[in-house]
Amino acid sequence: MPVIVCHSVKGGAGTTFMAAHMAMSLSEAGANVTVLSVAPRDTLPMHFGLQPALTLPSLFAPAEDAVLVSGIDLRSFVRAPEDPDFIPTLRDMGYLDAGPDRVLVIDIPAADYTFARRVIPHASGLVAVLNAAPDTLALMPQVLGEASPENIAATTFVINALDETRRLSRHAAAFIRELVGPRLLGRVRLDEAVPEAIAMLQPLARYAPSSAALADVRAIGAALLPLLENPGRPWMARDSQAPTSASRAA
Ligand SMILES: Nc1ncnc2c1ncn2[C@@H]1O[C@H](COP(=O)(O)OP(=O)(O)OP(=O)(O)O)[C@@H](O)[C@H]1O
Ligand SMILES: [Mg+2]
Repeated sequence: MPVIVCHSVKGGAGTTFMAAHMAMSLSEAGANVTVLSVAPRDTLPMHFGLQPALTLPSLFAPAEDAVLVSGIDLRSFVRAPEDPDFIPTLRDMGYLDAGPDRVLVIDIPAADYTFARRVIPHASGLVAVLNAAPDTLALMPQVLGEASPENIAATTFVINALDETRRLSRHAAAFIRELVGPRLLGRVRLDEAVPEAIAMLQPLARYAPSSAALADVRAIGAALLPLLENPGRPWMARDSQAPTSASRAA
């Protein structure tokens, strides 16, 4: 089972939103998908149109206690970042076995970067969610400097909440594209329908089926699928929206 880690360099970038929608795309493509939240204050269920008060079942809860939304198994393990046996546990449960038809998406909050660094070497890859904003850009040298070459090799990027009407947002996105080149899976536009859907306790696909953000996350899901064909290999986005310096010069 490929493990996909969803993480961000900065809180509130849209990691949970992206983890939920990647899971939906992979499930719609036929994969058997589990999403694991490790956040003590969990907003994952809200992206599936579930009540905010809902507590997700533990990773270890029996199948009869599962919360399934459109076939996606939503789980929680709040102690995972402190659990030294987390990776052996995943292995024992069969989550680390290769095979694109079963996928585990782990939503790791930005603050748990030490935990993320520990999990990424065991994952097929990391989807790093970046806001097109100057503070995110300012953190990039530190983040890339701290990451191991192996973890960088396993990383793809998504720009989220891009406001194309704002010059600063456009310029920040252009800078990210330049920085990460073909590792960019895509971009998701800033879209009020995202928080509105949460307010209406509906999944985005039901609340605003023609919304810009939904089209964007679906495109990212489609770009993710080929990467799962070679689990364990370093990722490289194939259908990048970002022209590389070389392709621009050509
Ligand atoms: N493309 C978007 N357009 C508009 N709003 C968005 C978009 N993506 C996410 N949001 C909103 O931004 C807020 C933060 O998103 P989310 O909870 O996914 O962040 P996070 O990165 O998981 O934060 P943390 O690291 O603290 O867990 C939410 O209210 C979400 O609805
Ligand atoms: Mg989150």
